[in-house]
Amino acid sequence: MGCTIIGCGKALPALEVENDELAKLVDTNDEWIVTRTGISSRHVAVGETGTDLAETAARAALGWSQEGWCERSLAPEDIDLVIVATITPDALVPSAAGLLRERLGLEHAIAFDLNAACTGFIYGLTVAESMMAACAPGFPGAPGRNPVRRALVVGDERLTHITDWADRSTCVLFGDGAGAAVVEWDEKRPGILSSFVLNTTDDTGALSCPHAFDAHVPFDAEGVVPSALTAADRAPYITTPAASHASEGSTEALEASPLQAIYMDGQKVFKFAAEAMTEAIHQVLARSGVALDDVACIVPHQANERIIKYAAKKLGRPMDLFQLSIANVGNTSAASVPMALADAYAGGRIKRGDKVIVVAFGGGFTSGAVLFEA
Ligand code: ACO
Repeated sequence: MGCTIIGCGKALPALEVENDELAKLVDTNDEWIVTRTGISSRHVAVGETGTDLAETAARAALGWSQEGWCERSLAPEDIDLVIVATITPDALVPSAAGLLRERLGLEHAIAFDLNAACTGFIYGLTVAESMMAACAPGFPGAPGRNPVRRALVVGDERLTHITDWADRSTCVLFGDGAGAAVVEWDEKRPGILSSFVLNTTDDTGALSCPHAFDAHVPFDAEGVVPSALTAADRAPYITTPAASHASEGSTEALEASPLQAIYMDGQKVFKFAAEAMTEAIHQVLARSGVALDDVACIVPHQANERIIKYAAKKLGRPMDLFQLSIANVGNTSAASVPMALADAYAGGRIKRGDKVIVVAFGGGFTSGAVLFEA
């Protein structure tokens, strides 16, 4: 028995932006971006909300549209749980999962968001499986738990809305999209065989995006400060690491920095990512007893093709073991793995009974992998 993936879908915004277009914004070129990252274009949500993207991906995974892959179509009342992994929700309240639940009419489902940056979908699968296992027949105390038999796990991002479009070292990387998977507790199938999630201290803030939603607080250490409610005091006052970083080199870049943006020390993140990905793969293999030779497909976080190449080399495996979906989407954080997974299923790469690993790393630092039997 186990938690099995029975449907997958994805959604991309209509606007696709080629590398050459970005050369109109920053000093870059197609050759640099393709060679260093494997990215040729990305999609930017100008007309779509995060909820729009999540809805399209979820409908495909549920079998409500022709776009995705699924074993069978489900009814709204079949879904007990919705988890949306995101760092860019449309609102803080309601949650992205709550908004999606409402859009899809999933009246029976409980819904909440999860933030583990680019590893969010891996954490989401792990949490969904744990909630299912805790109420499965035979588990002591199962009657005292919320019954969860099927869950919708979604990765949904509009990273372009927290991108510093004046910073060429990050703006060429990111894109928007959503990916969704339906998982079901099945008494007759093994489903997830092992999982591994890990948080590692990012003590230099190598990958960060400070929040910018603080209301101005009209208090100081002595108490109320009524003057703090003047219009000037209400002005946004957050300084991002991206802005302070830019200020070291150029005032122009500082002025152009948005209030809230992703800051990344690319080389530090690269080193962390390359190690974290191979470590997570080794861990899920060891925990399940499955040999790498028996794995049919690895679906990694699509951050940079070179990181995937590094992992392939370290594992001594050819690149065609890995699902590569980065070229026309870029890095879409939590949406990256479920979108690549939807590509792998839709393209016929994953067949019933195959052993598959999904693996990711991200800000925080977070990392993890799940090994399942399809
Ligand atoms: N176009 C042209 N030149 C550029 C660009 C650009 N877009 N960006 C940087 N450069 C220049 C730099 O200024 C530097 O020039 P210099 O040598 O004159 O100083 C040169 O290119 C090399 O820069 P590096 O930073 O050394 O380039 P590198 O090969 O490391 O690639 C990159 C940079 C792509 C960012 C890489 O470090 C990387 O992919 N890091 C990991 C990213 C990642 O995985 N993020 C995942 C997490 S994201 C998340 O969780 C939201």
